[in-house]
Amino acid sequence: MEALLKSRTHCGTLKSSDVGEKPVVVTGWVYHYRDQGGVIFVDLRDRSGVIQIVFDKAEGEELIEKADTLRAEFVILVEGKLRKRAPEAINKKLPTGEVELLATKLEILSKSKPLPIPIEEHEDEASEENRLKYRFLDLRRGPMQETLQKRHQFIHKIREYLNDKTFWEIETPMLNKSTPEGARDFLVPSRIHPGHFYALPQSPQIFKQILMVGQVERYYQIARCFRDEDLRRDRQPEFTQIDVEMSFVTKDTIMELMEDMMRGAFKETFSIDLGENFEQITYHDSMEKYGTDRPDMRFGMELTELGEWAGTTEFKVFKGTVESGGRLKALCVPGGAKLSRKEIDDLTKWVVQDFKAKGLAWVKVVDGKLESVVTKFLPEASQKDLLEKTGAKDGDIIFFAADKASVVLATLGALRVELAQRLKMIEREWKAVWVVDFPLFEYDEQDNRLKSLHHPFTSPLSSQVSKMIELGEKISSGSLKENLNDMLSLQSDAYDMVINGVEVGGGSIRIHDSELQKASFKLLGISDEEANERFGFLLNALQYGAPPHGGLAFGVDRLLMLALDKESIRDVIAFPKTQRGQCIMSEAPSEVGDIQLRELSLRSLVKKPEK
Ligand code: AMO
Ligand code: AMP
Repeated sequence: MEALLKSRTHCGTLKSSDVGEKPVVVTGWVYHYRDQGGVIFVDLRDRSGVIQIVFDKAEGEELIEKADTLRAEFVILVEGKLRKRAPEAINKKLPTGEVELLATKLEILSKSKPLPIPIEEHEDEASEENRLKYRFLDLRRGPMQETLQKRHQFIHKIREYLNDKTFWEIETPMLNKSTPEGARDFLVPSRIHPGHFYALPQSPQIFKQILMVGQVERYYQIARCFRDEDLRRDRQPEFTQIDVEMSFVTKDTIMELMEDMMRGAFKETFSIDLGENFEQITYHDSMEKYGTDRPDMRFGMELTELGEWAGTTEFKVFKGTVESGGRLKALCVPGGAKLSRKEIDDLTKWVVQDFKAKGLAWVKVVDGKLESVVTKFLPEASQKDLLEKTGAKDGDIIFFAADKASVVLATLGALRVELAQRLKMIEREWKAVWVVDFPLFEYDEQDNRLKSLHHPFTSPLSSQVSKMIELGEKISSGSLKENLNDMLSLQSDAYDMVINGVEVGGGSIRIHDSELQKASFKLLGISDEEANERFGFLLNALQYGAPPHGGLAFGVDRLLMLALDKESIRDVIAFPKTQRGQCIMSEAPSEVGDIQLRELSLRSLVKKPEK
């Protein structure tokens, strides 16, 4: 058999020009099986495709008897003669459809039990639970094979690009000091140091910065990251980043390079054209026009500011909200007047529930007139002004949100995307943009403290460094509340890449001055002592000639989901975790025995069920 294996040809590659005297050897899985009395047809499948095999009684009784024992998914080796099919037997749907292999030898390499899940193309998919439980079978299905191959090709293209641009691929440790950055850490107990724990990396952020101090200049890594956060459709507890860092660069250089890399990899792997020169939009504009920092700019439908207009109405909700410091904005949906009362009610329920909106006022434009329960509160001049401001025409609907800014933006931003999809208003297939000029900080009302919008190592815009230091001094001697607005107006040298409304990657220019880094920690409410305890090794490194540097990281899984149009992140990962963070196939996480716990100086607080 070993000799035969060496001369193996891939099933899906056989074609009529291969027909000849030389015997052909193929291996693979029995896909379809048809016994036509004296002749048995088997479609044999390997990862390259399918070839039809013919077992004919004329080639020997023993052969056909053996072929008769074949069942679905048996793994076999066949030697035979490749021949052209009769014209009426040609299968145009199959790339190998002009030929078939007349078997002269059959070896069964491995048997298979009857399959617990369907894997044929024409069959319905199994439930996700069963697909994950029998992932080894699920992976044999065409769509999964294609995904794995595309994932491999995409990462290969990225590596090629970065290698070509003289980046070094360097691994950073998996067992780290716990320095929570946002999400919860996954912890690993140390056996040798009782009571001490490693943390799995949420990202290689600090290590890649230290590589820059280490004169590496250009680094990348296809890095596994771990975050113990609530899982969603596009979030996994472990996921993969394309992680990049560079020294002696400005934001523009990084963005240009990353854009070029992504454009090339999308084109070569998925034949997707992301377009020349990605547009840039500031965080402020993105929030005001699209209600989100992940704008889907494949279509227009920008939000309209109605703060001033509110005063021309007699509607208490609008007027009162703006007078008490809230916001009023509107979304004009072209052709939206055809939405039924029930549809509007359902949308209202949705925004009230998911975005904490207090309601969803609306106005339809029908025959030049406004139809709505709120029309009576809108004087004529105010109505005219509304049509002008929103650009609404006959057949359109205008939705309103009056509330604090965060609710207004979240409500109308989500409504915009939902209705564009529902009313099929998305004009082009691909639109990649950069979002820039993010605020450096956001305010955490619950804890009355500032939080980094990106992460604490992100630099403010160079023009705002002195302002940040000044504000830091003010805050240390006064209260945060007094200086809050100034603090929130500071902008960072950060950038996110957003494709079709999905944040696929983000990064920033970093702080490379240890004093500024300390000041930044202080503003975040991290004392010198705590900063030293948690990030001392970074602060130390920054004191020994740290070059200016910056970088970014892309989420590989999200990029693949987008490019391959998959609903779930689990469909682009070979062995994903469920929404509850489990691997159904291997049954992780699992309990461990007392001995193992004792070795780690641990005891479980969870009571074992009585036997
Ligand atoms: P950030 O936290 O924005 O930045 O992550 C970068 C990208 O990683 C992807 N991503 C995820 N994908 C799947 N599941 C998750 N749970 C998940 N979390 C994030 C997103 C995101 O855009 N160190 C910084 C980058 C830098 O500054 O260089 C970082 O990790 O696509
Ligand atoms: P009401 O006066 O409460 O009957 O509301 C009249 C309309 O205004 C209804 O369609 C509500 O959904 C809507 N509405 C109420 N509060 C708000 C709000 N804060 N923003 C937008 N629409 C609202």
